[in-house]
Amino acid sequence: MEYLTPKTISRRIFIEGIGLVSAGLVLGTLGGCEELAEQIRNRPIRRRIRVGSPDVDADIATYKQAVTLMKGLPSSDLRNWSYQAAIHGTAGVGFNKCPHGSEQFFPWHRAYLFYFEKICQKLTGNDKFGLPYWNWNQNPDLNPAFLDTTSVLFSTRTNTSVSTLSQVSTAELAPIFTDTNFYTFWPQIEGTPHNNVHTFVGGIFGGFGSAVDPIFWTHHCMVDYCWYKWNIDMGNNNPNASSWIGVTWNYFIDADGSTASPMTAGITELMPLLSYQYEHSDIGTPVPQKIIRTKAEFNRLEARIKAGADIRFEIKNRALIATKAAISISKPFNGETRANAGAFSAIIDNDDAKETVFASINYVQLPTESDFFVRVFINLPNANTDTTVKDPHYAGSFAFFGTSMPDHAGMDISAHKHVPKFLVNITPTLKRLKQQQLITDQSLLTVQLVAVPFLGKFENPSTELLLDTIELIVTPVIINSKEQ
Ligand code: C2O
Repeated sequence: MEYLTPKTISRRIFIEGIGLVSAGLVLGTLGGCEELAEQIRNRPIRRRIRVGSPDVDADIATYKQAVTLMKGLPSSDLRNWSYQAAIHGTAGVGFNKCPHGSEQFFPWHRAYLFYFEKICQKLTGNDKFGLPYWNWNQNPDLNPAFLDTTSVLFSTRTNTSVSTLSQVSTAELAPIFTDTNFYTFWPQIEGTPHNNVHTFVGGIFGGFGSAVDPIFWTHHCMVDYCWYKWNIDMGNNNPNASSWIGVTWNYFIDADGSTASPMTAGITELMPLLSYQYEHSDIGTPVPQKIIRTKAEFNRLEARIKAGADIRFEIKNRALIATKAAISISKPFNGETRANAGAFSAIIDNDDAKETVFASINYVQLPTESDFFVRVFINLPNANTDTTVKDPHYAGSFAFFGTSMPDHAGMDISAHKHVPKFLVNITPTLKRLKQQQLITDQSLLTVQLVAVPFLGKFENPSTELLLDTIELIVTPVIINSKEQ
């Protein structure tokens, strides 16, 4: 059995420009179609965590064993639990390596999980172990295995179910998954379900020390499955710019506890074809699973993944709403554009429009508290904390992951200077408002930001959000040419 391991990557796949020697070559050396199919079928399975599945129970037992072993390793062995968590970030310090708010959000976490899964396999002696994922859309309650206070899987958390969180509901996830543009898809996954789940579940999981809570790895496995589904099952393409695929990390720890050979974003794209597979489940609207039956199908998929697409974060048009403002979280923000809805009619009135309108919200820094999320409304000047997601003016929401940090003497402050920025797709809302005659072409567009406390009231109502810019931007829809 030869999965993609750090060693086989360095031996068999080298990086140069676009980056990758054929994965088909790696697998092709193993023989004919049957063996190849066998190889692919036998990759470790990352299963959906749920109650009542003996396979999942066995995975959780292995996971628990791995966590126990990692917690028992001496600090000189860099596979130890706290070192692994510290690669990501440290409570009270900030994000150490985790590239939040950047286009490396998906590949970095994929690489991080890849090595972590290898360490679990090695320490438990179970090379079939696949990290299970917490599908918060289908199974919003934390699995009981993580709630037993005597278990190594336990950590103190504020909420143990996200069933009341609209950000993991199908209604909010479905429009995000229809976004075919990598550069607008990832920020929505990060800002909406990813950040909200972190902050809402809370405890150490809600901040920089996040990866100390064993639930972290199952949450990020789900985030990785979101990327997988979008890229593989739904046929969308990742960028092929060398500035994206060529980004290299040289500090991950391999299964033996040594520094792994350099990993690139480009290599992570092939990991789910070679190293692990996801047990299929729905995330919002059901999408058929991409099943690879033959070598030819595998080659076509691999070719598509490697080719990627020539996409950029391109802004066709923008309408500024506000810059440089300090907004108290206890008071909704209301901003006006100089643009009327008619300026976007080519997008609003056309179901096949090749462009999307987003509210782009950039902050100067993380707030000092993050016990709330922010709802975005369009043309509802009196929107407030009682206005629900059912209101036709509702467009979407986001949350802050982590809080601003004082500068530490002698520390690399770039590590925790995290600039939060969010994209909320307002196109469906504009269409709905126009259809329901709540706006006309003449209406000036306004945007409202309403901070809503997770627990009914703010820990510190005087918390301020420092807005850098808020604007409406228009980006192109990427049309994917499908393989086969
Ligand atoms: Cu890098 Cu969800 O954290």
